[in-house]
Amino acid sequence: MLKEWSEDFSIGIDVIDEQHKGFFDAAHRLYDSILNCEGEKIVEESVEFLRDYANQHFQTEEAFMAKYAYPRLEHHKKLHIEFIETLDMLVDDLNVFGPSQHLADRALDISQEWLIHHITDEDSQYAQYKKQKSPKN
Ligand SMILES: [Fe+2]
Repeated sequence: MLKEWSEDFSIGIDVIDEQHKGFFDAAHRLYDSILNCEGEKIVEESVEFLRDYANQHFQTEEAFMAKYAYPRLEHHKKLHIEFIETLDMLVDDLNVFGPSQHLADRALDISQEWLIHHITDEDSQYAQYKKQKSPKN
């Protein structure tokens, strides 16, 4: 199911929250492009857009964690790498089987649902850590 970003997903760091909103949008764009069978090129573009967006976002987060010497940085980096790998597996299946409701749902699962769990399970932890280390800014 398509979900919108809401305050429930805020981790209290503005720049990261803004990027998470953009991540939701990129996930929705991918879902729509697969579901509406807008053609190979559009699906390809929306996958590329999500991959680039995710990579930039992950770099922001990792730089942020490094700045505050977050102890789970390496673990977190691994989760980011796994996300890109899972996205690439979807691309392989899209190339083999073509767009379908099933693959649109899977796209939503590995992007939007993944992000929601990632925010609540992982990102919230470094936000908490940062708050303890540097409560002011
Ligand atoms: Fe993250």
